[in-house]
Amino acid sequence: MSSKQLRKKFLSFFKKRGHKIVPSSSLLPDDPSVLFTTAGMQQFVPFLTGRITPLYRKACSVQKCFRTDDIEEVGDNFHHTFFEMLGNWSFGDPKAKDGIGDGYFKKEAIKFALEFLLNELGLDKKRLYVTIFKGDKEIPKDTEAKELWIKYGIPKDRIFEFGRKENFWGPTGEVGPCGPCSEIHYDLTGKPCKREDKCAPNCPCGRFIEIWNLVFMEYEKKIDDQKSGIRKYYYELLPQKNIDTGIGLERLTAVVQNKRSSYDTDLFSPIGRELENLVGGTMSDSFFNRKEVRIILDHIRAICFLISDGVLPSNVEQGYILRRLLRRIIRYGNTLNLGQKSLINLAKKVVSVYKDTYPELSKKENDILTIISSEYEKFSKALERGLRQFNKLISKIPSNETGISGKQAFELYTTYGFPLEFTKELASERGIRIDEKGFYKELEKHKAISGKGREKKFGGHGLGEARVFSKEDEEKIKRLHTATHLLHQALRDVLGNQVKQMGSDITPERLRFDFSYPKKLTSEQIEKVEKIVNEKIKENLPVKVEEMKLERAIESGALGFFRAKYPEIVKVYSIGSYSKEICAGPHVSHTKELGEFKIIKEEASSAGVRRIKAVLKKV
Ligand code: SER
Repeated sequence: MSSKQLRKKFLSFFKKRGHKIVPSSSLLPDDPSVLFTTAGMQQFVPFLTGRITPLYRKACSVQKCFRTDDIEEVGDNFHHTFFEMLGNWSFGDPKAKDGIGDGYFKKEAIKFALEFLLNELGLDKKRLYVTIFKGDKEIPKDTEAKELWIKYGIPKDRIFEFGRKENFWGPTGEVGPCGPCSEIHYDLTGKPCKREDKCAPNCPCGRFIEIWNLVFMEYEKKIDDQKSGIRKYYYELLPQKNIDTGIGLERLTAVVQNKRSSYDTDLFSPIGRELENLVGGTMSDSFFNRKEVRIILDHIRAICFLISDGVLPSNVEQGYILRRLLRRIIRYGNTLNLGQKSLINLAKKVVSVYKDTYPELSKKENDILTIISSEYEKFSKALERGLRQFNKLISKIPSNETGISGKQAFELYTTYGFPLEFTKELASERGIRIDEKGFYKELEKHKAISGKGREKKFGGHGLGEARVFSKEDEEKIKRLHTATHLLHQALRDVLGNQVKQMGSDITPERLRFDFSYPKKLTSEQIEKVEKIVNEKIKENLPVKVEEMKLERAIESGALGFFRAKYPEIVKVYSIGSYSKEICAGPHVSHTKELGEFKIIKEEASSAGVRRIKAVLKKV
């Protein structure tokens, strides 16, 4: 079965069981506290916490995901940066009578999973093992799941109990929905390692592979940081029980196609063959087992997808990760003599393999090729010089104890563009230590990652990406920022108070505002919102700021939707008596400074979330 058929089979299996097929959301999530979409559930967070009533009770998707944790693991059989996750969900209490259909919980989730693996994919039941949460001080043991697995035919001796690390999932950020989980593992070899009886799921020998994670999402992790800045976390039962599941498509494909690694499946093999042609390799298993080959294949795919979702190489946040991947691929490519033109051809191959499933790759093909090309031009020369400098440095290190100093690592970063992790990798290949703390001290000194970057996380307005803006651009951003507050209030006036800010990003050219709302806005609604904002601008309302305790700000009716992330004392900005919001600022002093407000785009951002882009014209 091909990976294309597998995606289709999964979605149609759940569609037949009353699930709505929801398209993948972007790799850049609405939640400003996390860098990337790392799981299928992220676009559904408001449905999982019960803060927004969903339009459908059950959903399924194939979600694009990106995990930075695994960058260093890439090269083994199954770890990837970019991957696709198949998932099915039930939001809310199965017995809720709110007119949007039945949901389900543990029993059905387990039954569906087994039905799909055994009846649809024909996997051998004897090779399936499961794990359950063994319980701890805060969350009880999941005996219910254990009994259900037994009921559905998994023998007791193939059910294993684990703790937090393995069998409690989430949240994706600091706080949010989470819960105990049960994982289905597949026995790849049927042969225990030297540990014999102890060779069970999660054994490091590689005999088992986790294929499906079923999360029984009935908790929310919260933060209580009111007192003395000490952050205390606690778990609360959600008002509803949810199901959140995820299968890594790459792994499942390997199991179904009976391959040892994802690189041998049809998700990678056409790209692998292209690479082999480009570098004049010989078609052999050993080529695909080479670490540098696997890194190139993983990273080229991730790079194409990141760029197609709008990431540009930079020195902060998502852009930094993209740059790291690009520089890493150039370095490993060098060892195979993979030049600029070949790298471009490899990217073209990725687009051609994935474009039917993800049309955004074709649409952004030009951007993908241009960005890879220009990063190659910028970095390949610096790489040569930097490697010479690196070798010079290490030849002078008196002993392994001394290692590379923070200052030296920082110089490699600023002069030759070696990200810290890159130098670390080079050093560790030669068994040399590196003073990371020293590196960060230097970084602080140079303010390369500015405090403004952090402001973004608290203020939630996406201000101050650590780019350097001209004075003029800063003024433009300030005006758009004040306009964002007016827009937020106007949306609530026109669409109702269910509108909540879900994210915001401001560049000197435009504002982008994500908010919870289940439907496309009509043109009348858009016009109304524009009209209100422009009226408020003409009224020349004064913008005032006050500092107060968070609790008092909330009591006074100030809008603030990133509550868990606010500090104890917050700034509250009021625009006349029209808008009041917790925000880090800065803002203009009177609304007339804004000019004319115009909405240029209204579109879906993810399930239940709309996105507006707007500009200000000078009048
Ligand atoms: N959220 C869970 C995971 O990422 C299940 O989808 O594993």
